[in-house]
Amino acid sequence: MKPVDNQTLLNQLKWRYATKKFDPAKKISAEDWNTLEQALILTASSYGLQPWHFTVVTNPKVKEELQAAAFGQHQVTQASHVVVFSMNKSVNEGYVEKYIQRISEVRGVPAEKLAGYKGMMVGTIAKQDVATTEAWSAKQVYIALGNLLTSAAMLGIDACPMEGISPAKFDEILGLDKKGFATLMIATLGYRASDDSAAHHPKVRFKSEDVVTHVS
Ligand SMILES: Cc1cc2nc3c(=O)[nH]c(=O)nc-3n(C[C@H](O)[C@H](O)[C@H](O)COP(=O)(O)O)c2cc1C
Repeated sequence: MKPVDNQTLLNQLKWRYATKKFDPAKKISAEDWNTLEQALILTASSYGLQPWHFTVVTNPKVKEELQAAAFGQHQVTQASHVVVFSMNKSVNEGYVEKYIQRISEVRGVPAEKLAGYKGMMVGTIAKQDVATTEAWSAKQVYIALGNLLTSAAMLGIDACPMEGISPAKFDEILGLDKKGFATLMIATLGYRASDDSAAHHPKVRFKSEDVVTHVS
């Protein structure tokens, strides 16, 4: 038996849309939020390095400040939760060592036995300049955004991915720059307002033959 049937998956992906108007009275339950947070953390990343940080904002005053830094987009204050996606700017040998220690702890493998894996990761990073490593890290963070959007849809929770923000202002408001993080985008999550007309817009996607090639 499949864990989710094909039609349910497609139905939820068609049901979701970039929500323009949230119902501010509807909040995501603690149980659902906890599940979404775990889904975020379970996101896949290159080498498993997880070069990200997620800041979850529910504080109304902070949301107001963030809305101003998001070109006034109302989703930021109306949605139940705001997730700020940042990359970790310190993906270096020390970071890899921390990751190795975590693998050792979780899998019960002595860190010395992971020297080869560590060498491979450190080697990759050493070959790159900082801008290349940051661009690589940013790509991983976008995987987390996609994962969160699909996870939310599967739970019947609405979301809007948003790049229309001033990342530097978000970093300043949330003190992220001081922690070595750099914001890339956000997602607002909650429940659609009953009068959000965007909910009824037909989905616009290129035809599959325009974007998919089968080599059989
Ligand atoms: C990375 C990213 C950034 C986006 N930024 C914004 C944004 O700032 N504001 C907004 O209302 N929608 C934003 N969107 C929503 C897209 O416009 C929307 O996903 C796209 O038109 C496809 O429509 P659908 O998500 O409703 O299927 C963004 C989407 C993505 C993936």
